[in-house]
Amino acid sequence: MKSPIRPVIAQLKPSGISQVTALGLGNPDVLPLWFGETDLVTPPFIRKAAAQALEDGRTFYTNARGITPLREAISAFHKRTIGADIPIERITIPGAAMLAAVTALQMVCETGDNIVVVSPIWPNIFQAAKVVGAEPRLVRLEEDWNAGRWRLDMDKLFDACDERTKALFLASPGNPTGWMLTADEQKIILDFCRQRGIAILADEVYGTLVFDGSAHAPSFLSIADENDAVFGINSFSKPWAMTGWRVGWLVHPKSVENAAAAMAQCNNTGSTHFAQYGALAALSPEGEAFRASLLERCRAGRDVVEKWIGRQNRVRWMKPDGAFYGFLHVDGLKDSLGFCQRTVLDDHVGVSPGWAFSLGDPRDDSYLRICFAQDAARLEQALTRLEGAIRKL
Ligand SMILES: Cc1ncc(COP(=O)(O)O)c(C=O)c1O
Repeated sequence: MKSPIRPVIAQLKPSGISQVTALGLGNPDVLPLWFGETDLVTPPFIRKAAAQALEDGRTFYTNARGITPLREAISAFHKRTIGADIPIERITIPGAAMLAAVTALQMVCETGDNIVVVSPIWPNIFQAAKVVGAEPRLVRLEEDWNAGRWRLDMDKLFDACDERTKALFLASPGNPTGWMLTADEQKIILDFCRQRGIAILADEVYGTLVFDGSAHAPSFLSIADENDAVFGINSFSKPWAMTGWRVGWLVHPKSVENAAAAMAQCNNTGSTHFAQYGALAALSPEGEAFRASLLERCRAGRDVVEKWIGRQNRVRWMKPDGAFYGFLHVDGLKDSLGFCQRTVLDDHVGVSPGWAFSLGDPRDDSYLRICFAQDAARLEQALTRLEGAIRKL
């Protein structure tokens, strides 16, 4: 029988991460470092705010672009963290960052277009590009082991663009590398995109999780004009331990406000009403204190991983500048998916295969990703198990 769905959808495959988690999700014996989330439950004051909203009967449809107090608080957040004036007309809350990214792609791409993506990268973006009919073209960051940093080759980035390139997708700080664009690099990229009529999809979900003491990573939103084709993708998921809430936001050019409203209607008719009140509490001073404590948890986790690496002879990394991942290079590892699958079953630790983060680029098959936003003792235990698995390689 002829498949009822579009060929591009029929060809989608589960991500490399889910091919591992399928083997051990929910198994209490497995120590999970595979997902991009902390082990902390959303803090009580946020949960209480959402519960109160439910209690108050906030169970109806609401403005599909998001409740006004939350859009105002997001506007204030951008002012506070990056000094940018982003009026609420430029802010839409379609769901979480995943839906913000899909919405931006739907707005800028059509079948036959391509988007240039700096990799290794959060793999859902490949699927999202394909769903809208666009080809994801990868430009891989390069290892500079001497400097201990990932490096973006701008010439390669620009050479990857052609007349069908509709957008660059850059996540900074990045998942899984923790690499961060500098403000100077952002200016060069913005100039190039302005000249070529290419949109920038700036994924800043880890923007406030940076280790250099600054309030926020350099942001395209602070250098773009209100009508530049810059789309800021953001979320409550990571800094406020709210991955299950599905609330995030999209900052878009002023000129596309009506289109953003129409997209919000047809994609989800807005994010969950009472959950948005939880998100509003996250942007309070109490939320800021929680975010700061989560950052300290990440810093402590990063230290644990760094010390552990110091004792390994086959593992190295480029120490991350932001986000909460270790992207670990393991000498001799060639099949990261097979390794991670064995490790769940035999060693009871869940890690993600490097292969998943760049559409199968063989260079990433020597890497594993772990999330270190975890309780330090459990993290150490998980790393000890990982060490045992690596020894068997
Ligand atoms: C870079 C990046 N962007 C977006 C997301 C999605 O976040 P959300 O939970 O808000 O959909 C993730 C999740 O891992 C991510 O790592």
